[in-house]
Amino acid sequence: MKIEIEKTFPQYFKPSYPEEFELFSHFEVTAAIPTVLFAVTTWKENGKPNVCLHSWSCFHGDKTAFFAVMGNLYQHTHTYANIQREKCFCINFLPLSCYDRLVDTIHTNDSETDEFAVGNFTLSQAKTIYAPVIQEAFLHMECTLKEIQDISGAGIAAMVIGQVQHISVAKEYAQGYEKRYSKDGFMMLIPAPQDLVSGEPNMSAIATVHIEKYD
Ligand SMILES: Cc1cc2nc3c(=O)[nH]c(=O)nc-3n(C[C@H](O)[C@H](O)[C@H](O)COP(=O)(O)O)c2cc1C
Repeated sequence: MKIEIEKTFPQYFKPSYPEEFELFSHFEVTAAIPTVLFAVTTWKENGKPNVCLHSWSCFHGDKTAFFAVMGNLYQHTHTYANIQREKCFCINFLPLSCYDRLVDTIHTNDSETDEFAVGNFTLSQAKTIYAPVIQEAFLHMECTLKEIQDISGAGIAAMVIGQVQHISVAKEYAQGYEKRYSKDGFMMLIPAPQDLVSGEPNMSAIATVHIEKYD
């Protein structure tokens, strides 16, 4: 037996907070697919550095180019405005131990705020683009803006595609699996898997990668 979830909102789904399904599709918590978590860093118009915790993304390319596809960036964010203006951004992969500091940058987030100071992150300059880099990131990608597309057409979010120009990797993470795929490596978001039988909500979870086999 399979549980079928349709496009119309399942009335038995209970939100975990009142506006949950005003913000997110019920398909998000139906599928609850894990994606990697990272910080997007950009310059604000006033020269202050901006940090944005981000999850809905994928990374791929062919032999001619490699892309960071941020599938769903909210249009109300500073990051969206900064990327539109500067046509570039940096993607910083940080370990789980930095999660709470990244969330601090969400809670203290106005135009005048230096979000590196809020998160207690060290700032360095990107090598190939005009963007700040979080020095504590074990891997960062410097991207130029390739394309922005409002997929739903609702003016709420947009898919932002960056073309990767440069990647820096911390030396301790440059070999083998132990650092990148452990508690010190990539962190993942598991987006609030709904109980598809009772309709009860669940919390989102933050995960790390555990390797099961090699191929
Ligand atoms: C775990 C987590 C994941 C998030 N993922 C995204 C995302 O993929 N896209 C997005 O637009 N906002 C996402 N957010 C919300 C942004 O981090 C938040 O709106 C942030 O304040 C935007 O920063 P800015 O206005 O400085 O750009 C996420 C928040 C959390 C806590």
